[in-house]
Amino acid sequence: MNRNFALEFVRVTEAAALSSARLMGRGDEKLADQAAVDAMRNALNSVEFDGRVVIGEGERDEAPMLYIGEKVGKGGSVRLDLALDPLEGTTICAKGLNNSISVIAIAEEGNFLHAPDCYMEKIAVGPEAKGAIDLNRTPTENLKEIARAKKCSVSDLTAIILDRPRHEELIKEVRMAGARIWLIGDGDVSAAIATTEPTSGVDVLFGTGGAPEGVIAAAALRCRGGDFIGRLVFKDDAERARATRMGIDDLRKVYGIHDLAKGNVMFCATGVTQGTFLNGIRFFKGGAESHSVVMRSETGTIRYIHTQHHFNR
Ligand code: FBP
Repeated sequence: MNRNFALEFVRVTEAAALSSARLMGRGDEKLADQAAVDAMRNALNSVEFDGRVVIGEGERDEAPMLYIGEKVGKGGSVRLDLALDPLEGTTICAKGLNNSISVIAIAEEGNFLHAPDCYMEKIAVGPEAKGAIDLNRTPTENLKEIARAKKCSVSDLTAIILDRPRHEELIKEVRMAGARIWLIGDGDVSAAIATTEPTSGVDVLFGTGGAPEGVIAAAALRCRGGDFIGRLVFKDDAERARATRMGIDDLRKVYGIHDLAKGNVMFCATGVTQGTFLNGIRFFKGGAESHSVVMRSETGTIRYIHTQHHFNR
């Protein structure tokens, strides 16, 4: 995969972030998401490649744009698969809270899991705790293993968890085990990435969030040397049947990071609202500034890009 693509795609996340950030705090998730989708789609179609959306805004009949299977790009001989979320954290943006991002992960054809739009039970950790996590263990056992790998005690660890009623037991157990907890309202892609950032103060992501977001987070953690495991969670038989139609044969499978995103992957994200690892968009007279990250799994290069955009030029 040509490494220059990473810089092409950062323009795409910048475009989506700039559009949705205009609508920060309006209390309208759908409007902010639509703005991000429109901008991302336009920007993608100006890049010379033959792209296919593998993780997108939903299925063709329910999502008019950037649906799963949609072809994007100007065309050409380079065929790439995309796992994207034009606005990860729609509610965050609508409320003007922290950590909404625009994100794209890129891989060669066939290298992302075609995850259905259901939930996924997830654990993510940074490089120091790589290999120390197992979804068949209890959270207490995982915390002990992570502490062992990081040569600290469980009480030194902070777990980030989506604040949801479904996590009541998990939260109780993590508290009993003695770790600290950071509850978040939304945005488990940013949260997974935070586990790889020593200054974030986050050691592990636990809990159940969107499966598509799981694939995107796995791609990011491949680039940052972290670890991610996931297992699909289905609400009902209709979701199970949809997963089977999408080619998932073992519905209880525990997916390792390479099952979710294999081969060489690239990852680009731009901050929409202020965040733990990326600042949000700031508008000024006639322009705006954005903060993005571009990463590649092949080399582990992580580039932070601070861009000034001038709308009247
Ligand atoms: P959106 O960007 O689609 O609003 O998703 C935000 C998010 O918090 C994800 O980060 C997370 O994986 C998922 O929603 C959790 O789902 P739910 O809100 O149903 O618990």
